[in-house]
Amino acid sequence: MALRSQAWFGGTGKNGFIARHSLRGLGYGGQHFDGRPVIGIGNTFSELTPCNAHLRLLAEAVKRGVYQAGGFPLEFPAMSLGEPLMRPSTMLYRNLAAMEIEELIRANPVDAVVLLTGCDKTTPAALMGAASAGVPAILLTGGPMLNGNYRGREVGSGTDIWRMTEELRAGTITEAEFTEFESCLNRSVGHCMTMGTASTMACVTEALGMQLPGASGLPAVDARRGTLAEQTGIRAVALATGGPHPAEVMTRKAFENAILVNAAIGGSTNAVLHLLAIAGRLGVPLDLEDFDRLGARLPLLVDLMPSGRFLMEQFAYAGGLPALIERIKDALHADVLTVTGQGLLANCAGSVVHDDEVIRPLANPVQPADSGTAVLRGNLAPGGAVVKQSAAEPRLLNHTGPALVFDSVEDYHAVIADPDLPVTADTVLVVRNTGPVGYPGMPEVGNLPLPQKLLDAGIRDLVRISDARMSGTAFGACVLHVAPEAAVGGPLALVRNGDLITVDAPGRRLHLHVSDAELAERRAGWRPPAAGPDRGWVRLYREHVQQADRGVDLDFLVGSTDSAPPRAAF
Ligand code: FES
Ligand code: MG
Repeated sequence: MALRSQAWFGGTGKNGFIARHSLRGLGYGGQHFDGRPVIGIGNTFSELTPCNAHLRLLAEAVKRGVYQAGGFPLEFPAMSLGEPLMRPSTMLYRNLAAMEIEELIRANPVDAVVLLTGCDKTTPAALMGAASAGVPAILLTGGPMLNGNYRGREVGSGTDIWRMTEELRAGTITEAEFTEFESCLNRSVGHCMTMGTASTMACVTEALGMQLPGASGLPAVDARRGTLAEQTGIRAVALATGGPHPAEVMTRKAFENAILVNAAIGGSTNAVLHLLAIAGRLGVPLDLEDFDRLGARLPLLVDLMPSGRFLMEQFAYAGGLPALIERIKDALHADVLTVTGQGLLANCAGSVVHDDEVIRPLANPVQPADSGTAVLRGNLAPGGAVVKQSAAEPRLLNHTGPALVFDSVEDYHAVIADPDLPVTADTVLVVRNTGPVGYPGMPEVGNLPLPQKLLDAGIRDLVRISDARMSGTAFGACVLHVAPEAAVGGPLALVRNGDLITVDAPGRRLHLHVSDAELAERRAGWRPPAAGPDRGWVRLYREHVQQADRGVDLDFLVGSTDSAPPRAAF
């Protein structure tokens, strides 16, 4: 079968000439157009995404591999989404990046693509785009940064920022110490090295079968990552001619494997949204309850922050994901195909755990089965909500308390230090209009900092409910992703101060103790919050974004197209 790229380069006359001569301008000789596979290298490098700042170096290693295997590599930039700098939230742009990657793949003369990602949203965006474009694809996540080290103590991305910020507010550390800590946390390029969203999505990508074994864990600056990049390039050439395609890799069974792995690593709640969105692109049936039902089968085995003690370096040195997969293989599907051309378990056969403290045996887990992400439903969240049980104080996982409600994050921050704030350890803090439509972009504000008054009293956790997300590096009894969100009239919009709310994680319930009649009356008086600017991407996003239980993808991006070359402009 003729390669897709030959529709461009193999042409005679004007169109073939135009495709070839433009690249001759870069010095490529005629042999590059002889029918060898063209491998696109989609690169989410950006200095505004420091987590991905080393990806150009990795791209060079991928090119070496492509050339060794007889392919022709062409690198192209793809939209980069950096968590720390982009406002209001990278999640507002994940679908835009996915749409860009899909269209770049489809519109260009590539037979397969290598997608280089790292920071939280770049990985799911690439998987979504690749799923929809249908051209063979392989990912390479850029790897975690080196562990942070503050005064001899290992410190983790996000997790220790949240901790140290609260300590600063509680007065147990000084401003000078806090500033010193700032220079000790990010010791290299690479993504967050806690089991936050980036590490989670890297592991999930590997578990789905979309990147090479071991690629999720090795530090960004480890020389072996360059070797992995070479191997990724070599594999991409094979994929271009023999597949498998993304739809043949990311099957229902592959998603089930990813959900099980996510439970064993104590992965981010964000993985729920991203996997739902990727599955939606492929027409794979997947819903919230799958995460609960499947995830509850495995205990938490990987002892990494935020739920545990260690960081990604220790995980990699302990054997990384292949060793974990070998350990939990009895729970996983063997009959799946990965980008190696083999099954997931075959890829990992013989991998050994080198440190049972970091990757625990099944008989000695960090937390027992059913300690991960629980899906709650009830009259406050008919479309569901999630809570990461391993990140919460156990006493709060079955709790009833009075609501203290804020219509915006800013409203809450304005009173956070108020000594007269009517709040106790039993209060259920509600913040709304922080969902996909409401904010817009569903930011990571669901792990609201505690009121000063409670901090001063030594309290370090509180039930918080919102239609927002929380950082994968965060912790706390935070009920997130409430659907439908308040801004579209979800019941969260109807809660008033003092209403009793029950969070019952064991019973999977989220209940507002207000009668249906009273709620109907409140609904009659409800008006949607004022919308923001009404143009451009934000307008398109607000008009078409689906709720959290559908993965927050745009309704018209669901599904995929075949990978046939588009028509030429004769
Ligand atoms: Fe990029 Fe955490 S900020 S991965
Ligand atoms: Mg994050």
